[in-house]
Amino acid sequence: MTTIESEWETRELAGRRALVTGGSRGIGAAVVRRLLDAGAEVLTTARSATSTVPEGATFVAADVRTRAGAEALAAAAQETFGGVDVLVHNVGGARPFTGALAIPDEEWQDALDLNLLAAVRLDSLLVPGMRERRSGAIVHVSSAAVPAAIPQFLHYEAAKAGLENYSRGLASESAPYGIRVNTVSPGRVATPGGEATREQWARLDEGTGQDSATVPLGRDGRPDDIADAVLFLVSGRASWLTGSNLFVDGGEFPRG
Ligand SMILES: NC(=O)c1ccc[n+]([C@@H]2O[C@H](COP(=O)([O-])OP(=O)(O)OC[C@H]3O[C@@H](n4cnc5c(N)ncnc54)[C@H](OP(=O)(O)O)[C@@H]3O)[C@@H](O)[C@H]2O)c1
Repeated sequence: MTTIESEWETRELAGRRALVTGGSRGIGAAVVRRLLDAGAEVLTTARSATSTVPEGATFVAADVRTRAGAEALAAAAQETFGGVDVLVHNVGGARPFTGALAIPDEEWQDALDLNLLAAVRLDSLLVPGMRERRSGAIVHVSSAAVPAAIPQFLHYEAAKAGLENYSRGLASESAPYGIRVNTVSPGRVATPGGEATREQWARLDEGTGQDSATVPLGRDGRPDDIADAVLFLVSGRASWLTGSNLFVDGGEFPRG
C-alpha cells in the first residue's frame, strides 16, 4: 500500500531541474531514470541519440570534451529550464595501453578533456547560476580504481584523481552558497562502456585478475547501484554532505 509519506519521499526531487552528462546508456541512463522517477525534470546529453535514452528526458547532442560543447549544453539547459539545480557529470572513460609510457600524448589530452576538464568547464558555466540562487547539488563520477593507479589506465586515473581533488576544492568554495559537491566512485559496473574497456584490457594483458571473482560482495555492479548513490547525494537526505567521495564497488578497491 502506498502511503502519503512514501509517495512524498519518492517525489523528493519534484521541481528540480537536472542535467546529466552521458545519459544515453550505462550508468548515466540509470541516473536519468532515477532522477525522473524522483520527480525531477531532466536534460541529458551524449554525442548521439540512441533508443536507450530514457523516456521523459530531454536530449541534446553535444560533445562535452570541448569548451564549445560545454557552452552549447549550458545554453540548452538555460533555454529548456532557465537554470540547473542538479548537475551530474557522468561522462568518462579511456582506452587501455600496455603501460604508463605507452600512452600517447593525444590519449592523455583526450582523457583529461573527457574525465576532468569537461566537468570543470560545465561547472564554470552552471555554478554561477546556482550561486545566485544559493542552492545546488553537483555529483562528479570518478572511479574506485583511482587509488590502485593501474598502469594501463594511468591517463584515465590521473584525470579522475584530478577530478576528485577539484571536487573537494569546489565543495569548500561552494558551501557558503548552499551548493553541495560530491563524488561517486564506481567499481566494475556492467555497462556497454565498462564491458568494452575490460575486453580491450583483457586482450592487452591476459590474466589481469580483474573479474567479478575479485569483488568481495560477489557480483559486478549494476548501473542502478550507482544511480541510487547519486540520487541520495543530490537529495535533501544528504543535506549535510559535501566534499565526500562515495565508493560504490562491492568492497573491491582500496580507499584513497
Ligand atoms: N562501468 C564501469 O565499470 C565504471 C567503473 C568505474 C568508473 N566508471 C565511470 O562511470 C561513468 C559512466 O561509465 P559507463 O560505464 O556508464 O560509460 P558508457 O557505457 O561508456 O556510457 C558513457 C556515456 O557517455 C557518453 N559520452 C561519451 N563520450 C562523450 C562525449 N565526448 N560527450 C558527450 N557524451 C559522451 C556516451 O554516449 P556517446 O558515446 O554517444 O557520446 C554514453 O552516453 C564514467 O565516468 C566512467 O569513467 C565506470
